[in-house]
Amino acid sequence: MRVLGIETSCDETGVAVYDEQHGLLANQLYSQVKLHADYGGVVPELASRDHIRKTVPLIQAALAQAELPTSSIHGVAYTAGPGLAGALMVGATVGRALAYAWRVPAIAVHHMEGHLLTPMLEANPPAFPFVALLVSGGHTQLIAVTGIGKYRLLGESIDDAVGEVFDKIAKLLGLDYPGGPMLSRLAQQGVPGRYTFPRPMIGRPGLAFSFSGLKTFAANIILTGADDDQKRADVARAFEDAVVETLMIKCQRALDLTGFQRLVIAGGVSANQTLRTILAGMMRQRRGEIFYARPEFCTDNGAMIAYTGMARLRCSTQTGLAVSVWPRWLLEELPTLEI
Ligand code: KG4
Ligand code: ZN
Repeated sequence: MRVLGIETSCDETGVAVYDEQHGLLANQLYSQVKLHADYGGVVPELASRDHIRKTVPLIQAALAQAELPTSSIHGVAYTAGPGLAGALMVGATVGRALAYAWRVPAIAVHHMEGHLLTPMLEANPPAFPFVALLVSGGHTQLIAVTGIGKYRLLGESIDDAVGEVFDKIAKLLGLDYPGGPMLSRLAQQGVPGRYTFPRPMIGRPGLAFSFSGLKTFAANIILTGADDDQKRADVARAFEDAVVETLMIKCQRALDLTGFQRLVIAGGVSANQTLRTILAGMMRQRRGEIFYARPEFCTDNGAMIAYTGMARLRCSTQTGLAVSVWPRWLLEELPTLEI
């Protein structure tokens, strides 16, 4: 079986073809970064319009890359939420229309389930159960995963998501959108320990996160004293170290609580090299295992939607003909798959 996956939830148009036996046959990505850069963030209306321009050409390119006729596609998966409503509607409408025309099922995929399953696309995929740390521009969540669709939320951010704070502090430091990766690059030049950011909520029991206070903390440092390149790098370093340590402490707690020995990190921020290194060191000490995807599969892409669509198609959880999207959608509401 082969599934075409379409991702249009935010500012990347992603299309991929996943084959049950041979894995990924095609992967096409178009990033709207340049389109939104002048505005310092994603403009939803512009995002939707650009998805309309790019989705069909990317589907053609993916089918050409896979060297497949349309008749060899057994299902069309699209991101149905969470995300920007107008942007989601583009992938949903194109996906459902193609499924109808090709007389195959359409599969509505949860974007965060897509992220969560990305390590399954790698050579050494994790076995269940595992703790998943989902860190993206819109979510910071710890989830106990015992199977596909078997998700128990252990804790999440009560305010800003980690990626969002990376982007906002990057803006304060004068870096272009999307700031997360640039801030991380700048942090490499920073002197560790020159500033010390708080590690929010580690003194309290539980697995909730709160990152919004770090913005004010960063702003206060940036606004006081001289503003030079070394200072900006030192602020970036101190912020990244605080975030990574906070995430590590909460991951340890989640592993202690569940007794699981495997940790999966997924979502855009899981591309962060410092986060990967520190969490890998922590898992080594615990004699556990860590799993993450290659960097291009950490941020939004079509491959994760095609893979998740395939997993759900195998268990035939596709829905009817209506074009439905759910801009707000909880992972725990997903049907469980017995595989
Ligand atoms: O998963 P994603 O592509 O989109 C959402 O579903 O939100 O995540 C995007 C987020 C952005 O906030 C971006 O700045 C952040 O992931 N990000 C990073 C890195 N690469 C992407 N943050 C820190 N370090 C990185 N290397
Ligand atoms: Zn995402």
